[in-house]
Amino acid sequence: ARADALPRDLDGVRVVVSAGGTREPLDPVRHLGNRSSGKQGYALARVAAQRGADVTLVAAHTDALPEPAGARVVHVSTAAELGDAVDEAAREADVVVMAAAVADFRPAGRSGHKIKKSDDEPDPMIELVRNRDILAGLVERRRPGQIVVGFAAETGDAQGSVLDHARAKLKRKGCDLLVVNAVGEGKAFEVEDNTGWLLSADGLETRIPLGAKSQLAATVWDAVAQLLRPSRE
Ligand code: CTP
Ligand code: CA
Repeated sequence: ARADALPRDLDGVRVVVSAGGTREPLDPVRHLGNRSSGKQGYALARVAAQRGADVTLVAAHTDALPEPAGARVVHVSTAAELGDAVDEAAREADVVVMAAAVADFRPAGRSGHKIKKSDDEPDPMIELVRNRDILAGLVERRRPGQIVVGFAAETGDAQGSVLDHARAKLKRKGCDLLVVNAVGEGKAFEVEDNTGWLLSADGLETRIPLGAKSQLAATVWDAVAQLLRPSRE
């Protein structure tokens, strides 16, 4: 789609998007990471800017991606850095979207030198400690009218379907919108593998075909624009 064909329904709206995967260092040359490509977060930032928003993108580690035109980009590495940067930007924001894959844990210690193996000592164990929940903090400190959007990847299990888990996570997290990616449970060609839902705190559930990241981004911003409407009239 041509940029000038997009709605300008986010004109002047201040948005923060986090993207990519955090890295938790073990020593100067090693870290624990995850496979997030950052593509979804970058698409969200790009589409928001095209629709007129004032965008801050807090980017952790991603594939090589072009910087979204018109967005301010803050590069971070660890979950702690990402949390500080998002919190700072959120103070002035109307909307915060947590698309980043934030490490739930980090190594309890960080060696100042490269960890060496030794035949005289037992192999090391990595002790992990919990990282704080950035999204939960945003929800706690949310200003009236500020919109907070979370992301989740879920599989169904004995306790419930993807949607059951997603509804429970939306309630638990307390965000306004939750984008749920239904991920495989070994049944690689099951149709659910390639779909998701946008769940809204007011009970609205929109099914979205995943895959086209800009399509998902458009669906998210449509829902955000809808929520912003009353306060902008
Ligand atoms: N998130 C966050 N801070 C964390 C972990 C996750 O802000 N320390 C955010 C993610 O960016 C995402 C949302 O929380 O928007 C949901 O992440 P998810 O990993 O699905 O939820 P968790 O609460 O970590 O639950 P789980 O045990 O299922 O991983
Ligand atoms: Ca998690």
